Amino acid sequence: MARRKMVAGNWKMNGARDANASLVRDIVFDVKRFPDIDIVICPPAVYIDPVGQMLSGSSVQLGGQTLCEQEKPGAFTGEIHGGMLKDIGCSYVIVGHSERRALYGETDAVVATKFLTAQACGLQPILCLGETLEEREAGQTEAVLARQLAAVIDAAGVEAFKSAVIAYEPVWAIGTGRTATGEQAQAAHAFIRGQLAQANAKIAGSTRILYGGSVKADNAVALFAEPDVDGGLIGGASLKAAEFLAICAAA
Ligand code: G3H
Repeated sequence: MARRKMVAGNWKMNGARDANASLVRDIVFDVKRFPDIDIVICPPAVYIDPVGQMLSGSSVQLGGQTLCEQEKPGAFTGEIHGGMLKDIGCSYVIVGHSERRALYGETDAVVATKFLTAQACGLQPILCLGETLEEREAGQTEAVLARQLAAVIDAAGVEAFKSAVIAYEPVWAIGTGRTATGEQAQAAHAFIRGQLAQANAKIAGSTRILYGGSVKADNAVALFAEPDVDGGLIGGASLKAAEFLAICAAA
């Protein structure tokens, strides 16, 4: 089944008011060229609201980079409830990014809870999966992807993927300039889709699986041409309007 491509920009912990204004202005100026794809921007939490105001009237959608796993708001100092992200205009939220898993100790169980909480708050999770270099070299790529995905399917059920997106992000390709080849990306994406298909073939066919990891304008065409690659989750290259727009053009 035809899947609408998506390009999502994860700004990570980058940005400042003036730089954001210039970046968003340039993106909004050009975005009408891409009516057939979904474009999402995930700024740092403090900038979501002003960026959302600048995006008003454009087709670009907003996402958070993470959310608190707690189902209800309350005494959780420093945390951000999914309902707050929804309240300021987010449609999506990234969950399980490898930086959250590695640097902030987010386990598969925590990621699954965040996925559930995001959906309960009316947000579509962008669920990140991916193996480290050591895991790939040890031949464990598929086992890692299967484990990370199963944690969410077991908690949320495969039906939950009707309103979720998956991002395959090999950790060794993130911010390193070392992109997966189209062949490597396709193999991982097909494996992930196959895992979903074991539970529900129709949902597997309609779930978007993005690739993330050193996507640039000059490698996006080849990556996005792969049959199971439905767009990209873009880090560094989403901070430059021309580069980000060129990636959108490749989708
Ligand atoms: O969320 C985005 C990914 O971590 C990719 O980051 O494009 O800077 O490698 P990158």
